[in-house]
Amino acid sequence: MSSKPITLAICGAGSRGLLSYAPYALKHPDELKVVAVAEPREWFRDEAMKRHKIPAKSVFSDWREMAAKEKLADAVLVATQDSLHKEPAIAFIKKNYDVLLEKPMACNETDCREIAEAARGRKSIFALCHVLRYTPYFRRMKAIVESGVLGQIATVRHIEPVGFWHQAHSYVRGNWRNEKLSSPMILSKSCHDMDILLFILGKKCLRISSFGSLMHFRKENKPKNAEARCLDCPLADNKCPYSAKAFYMKMVNDGNFGWPLSVICTEMTPVGVEKALRKGPYGRCVYSCDNDVVDHQIVSMLFENETTASFTMTAFTPKMHRETDIFGSLGCLRGDGNIIKVTNFLTGRTDEFDVNRESGDITGGHGGGDEGLMKDFVKAVRARDFSLLSSGPEVSLESHMMAFAAERSRRNNTVERIEL
Ligand SMILES: NC(=O)c1ccc[n+]([C@@H]2O[C@H](COP(=O)([O-])OP(=O)(O)OC[C@H]3O[C@@H](n4cnc5c(N)ncnc54)[C@H](O)[C@@H]3O)[C@@H](O)[C@H]2O)c1
Repeated sequence: MSSKPITLAICGAGSRGLLSYAPYALKHPDELKVVAVAEPREWFRDEAMKRHKIPAKSVFSDWREMAAKEKLADAVLVATQDSLHKEPAIAFIKKNYDVLLEKPMACNETDCREIAEAARGRKSIFALCHVLRYTPYFRRMKAIVESGVLGQIATVRHIEPVGFWHQAHSYVRGNWRNEKLSSPMILSKSCHDMDILLFILGKKCLRISSFGSLMHFRKENKPKNAEARCLDCPLADNKCPYSAKAFYMKMVNDGNFGWPLSVICTEMTPVGVEKALRKGPYGRCVYSCDNDVVDHQIVSMLFENETTASFTMTAFTPKMHRETDIFGSLGCLRGDGNIIKVTNFLTGRTDEFDVNRESGDITGGHGGGDEGLMKDFVKAVRARDFSLLSSGPEVSLESHMMAFAAERSRRNNTVERIEL
């Protein structure tokens, strides 16, 4: 095994590329070095260049310029927006880069299949950023199920409580608000949930049905005296839970410059934030946006061996941690995003696992999943071993096909089969 760090090119150095994954290289310089970047936004491109000391000849403003060069790194991270995944992913796969692709794979079934097809059977490593698989918490949950202590798994209840302010930020005002600009919410947000059910159960999903809608964040629900921009709105101070003024100004005034403030502007001062709210998408009233993705959705699933699962996604909660109940013939499990409790029916005993505390060094986003993924990706690239990653092309395609089938069901009032 080489002691030199593996080298990484970043395609799309935005919130995920520059701010979530690239810091791994600065923290672990012996494992990973960022050596090239393609990014059209000047501030982000310059930051990537400065932070990672990338030579000017390896800095580009478009992924196509990077892909046109001889291979510049061992691996590439494709972290462009959802609708810009397929072309760079396939181009870099064909250039024999090891590829780490942000989820969702792509916005429609055909494009997802094309990416999986391009990655299939090659010697290079390909993985999707299904970060939940790389968290100590979900790994423990899977290990408990696999240990057999719960017996035969009858059913799972899984919930993604998106959170009212997160929904407003990302799915009403932000990048994933409109299906034409990105994809349906069940794909953009909940492909993670379809995927984690596959991961935990280790079974194929056979059939699926779904209901849901955009119930609340619609023009007809706008209060009479609300303004189109929160900065001008009489309800902004304490009368509207979705006020952008109250939410983002509090962040900057508290000196909290992380996500999601880092998405709305780069000038981290009250004046900079106010400018962004005055002109940019994040200052809009939640009832005056061009959003169309659902704010609540439920999905019913039938897996192999008669196991069923239900999934609920809702905006309308203050919570941000996914919750999971697993009901087996010998026991049941409840996970609240931090602590997993396992009850044994025979002994009546409940064991509690405070996984995140036990793991000690959990840092970074998604309960350590962002960092866990990078760690395993680096290992897999070094060892040329696909098996060190669990989110390869086949299983990722499966979770995406579940999401597309759920969406067809929601729209057409049907029960759908999962076609792989
Ligand atoms: N794994 C997860 O849990 C997770 C979480 C959030 C977002 N995501 C996904 O990550 C991806 C990126 O999201 P983000 O929040 O970082 O978005 P972002 O907009 O901050 O970053 C995307 C970057 O791509 C750049 N870009 C645009 N055109 C380009 C081109 N031609 N060549 C190179 N770069 C180009 C943009 O300028 C931008 O900086 C999305 O697909 C999103 O759905 C995944």
